[in-house]
Amino acid sequence: RRKVILDTDPGVDDAMALLFLHFAPDVELVGITTASGNGLIATTTHNARYLAETFGITVPVAQGQGPSLDGVVGEAPVYVHGRNALGNVPEPARLNRALDPRPAHRFIIDMLRASPGEITLIAIGRMTNLALALREDPAIASFAKQVIIMGGAFGTNGVLGNVTPAAEANFAGDPRAADEVVGAAWPVTVVGLDVTTRTMMNDAWLARLRDRGGPASKFIWDVTRFYMDFHHRRLGLDAIYVNDSSAVAFFLDPSLFSVRRGAIRVVTEGIAAGESILKPAGRRFPANGWDGRPDQAACIDVDSERLKALYARTL
Ligand code: BDR
Ligand code: CA
Repeated sequence: RRKVILDTDPGVDDAMALLFLHFAPDVELVGITTASGNGLIATTTHNARYLAETFGITVPVAQGQGPSLDGVVGEAPVYVHGRNALGNVPEPARLNRALDPRPAHRFIIDMLRASPGEITLIAIGRMTNLALALREDPAIASFAKQVIIMGGAFGTNGVLGNVTPAAEANFAGDPRAADEVVGAAWPVTVVGLDVTTRTMMNDAWLARLRDRGGPASKFIWDVTRFYMDFHHRRLGLDAIYVNDSSAVAFFLDPSLFSVRRGAIRVVTEGIAAGESILKPAGRRFPANGWDGRPDQAACIDVDSERLKALYARTL
């Protein structure tokens, strides 16, 4: 079975991605680490424990660092994911599931060192924990099997950002961490808005999932009500984007995607902070900060119908 750690900020679409991974055959989820983003770190960690407890996911949950590498806490986007970051669906205040005593980045280091070359990291929140792990123990870059990130955008679908005109939320929330993670010598695939905005689930689709699936599918229906409303009201859409589950889909079946290879940088400061840029592999420029950075993969197209069929089948 293929081992994976999910670094996540649940989050409505994070919950959908976690359940997708949990039910996938031949996958062994070996840990959940939490990031801030859709809620403050206490909220996203509570939600991760709640999801694990509710759906019988018996792996360690390790809490990540709240502030970005540059010390920015940021505000929770309550108008997107609700006050509790799970679409305002009520949760118990008290949970039984204990937290792993280690901070998320230490947990990641220990797990990678214990199973060299075996573990895939899927990061669907800010990249803070992955960057901290690299800073503390740079050698782990050679211990990860691969790193799959939901974040960024390269403009191939006409979109550069969703929180600013230039930047996607996970990269904008900790741009320095994103730049360090895509610049490290491990194989990274960026699953950004280029592809996540090409796959959408509408109410008819989600209702079919609810009616044909088990408790997890019913839960997905409930938590997506507020998120759907945000897509209606703020974006004028009649369906939700499939952000985080697209990163899980890449892990399960990379043949769903087309990728472009090249060195990637993320703008760390200023008006375009969080913007991601790809230098096509093999192209040379007279002066740049891309030299010496590894070529990575950026997803630029996806077979959405097959992706959604995989999601429905798995749930
Ligand atoms: C990303 O930001 C969060 O709102 C989502 O959970 C997703 O990870 C999309 O930009
Ligand atoms: Ca997320």
